[in-house]
Amino acid sequence: MTEDEQKQAAAKKAVEYVEDGMIVGLGTGSCAARMVDLLGMKVRHGLYITGVPTSEATAAQARALGIPIASLDEVSVIDLTIDGTDEVDPEGRLIKGGGGAHLREKIVASLSDRMIVIAESKKRVPQLGAFKLPVEVVRFAAPALQPKLEALGSTPALRLAKDGAPFVTDEGNYIFDCDFGKIDDPSDLALTLSTMPGIVEHGLFIGYADIVIIGTDDGVEVTTFEG
Ligand code: A5P
Repeated sequence: MTEDEQKQAAAKKAVEYVEDGMIVGLGTGSCAARMVDLLGMKVRHGLYITGVPTSEATAAQARALGIPIASLDEVSVIDLTIDGTDEVDPEGRLIKGGGGAHLREKIVASLSDRMIVIAESKKRVPQLGAFKLPVEVVRFAAPALQPKLEALGSTPALRLAKDGAPFVTDEGNYIFDCDFGKIDDPSDLALTLSTMPGIVEHGLFIGYADIVIIGTDDGVEVTTFEG
């Protein structure tokens, strides 16, 4: 299977978990976009769900497909979130944020009864860290945080948009893509980053994934993790 076919297969399997009446967290990225497309098709055929988008891009896609969407002042609990990932390790720990949406993604995932992660097979890694860890920071703190992220052993690069200006997230913040190399203790790093003033959110998702669905050459592989 090509990577596109693997993404499609993972997305198709994931939407099987969506039931009528559910409130569904809608992830961001190319794999999640396939899942949103498939849900849009199901909605056209009578499925009733409410989507909680994790980005402006996903919100626009859902609206265009006729999927009813709600914000967090309208829903407090989300039945199921389906989202992509940049890396997933054998324990279901993730690096997310390649698309710059990990702040809203983590908030939505944290409010969800279950999170299903979907990806193509190349996202499976024995150890997290080949993908640079996205760290979202408030703009005011960015100059001060860069040396602090270096002191933690990373090489942080301010993410730039296509026009060369700093990339700005949906929440108005900047992102440092931090090369930590292989991350030996993701929980420890997550805790350290979470306690640094000015860091809004990092892309380590630990203990979030309940089900990981990977598209492979031999079909989809479904792994369930204890929540
Ligand atoms: C968005 O910020 C990310 O967390 C995405 O979920 C992640 O980058 C996966 O995206 P792709 O499916 O496009 O690789």
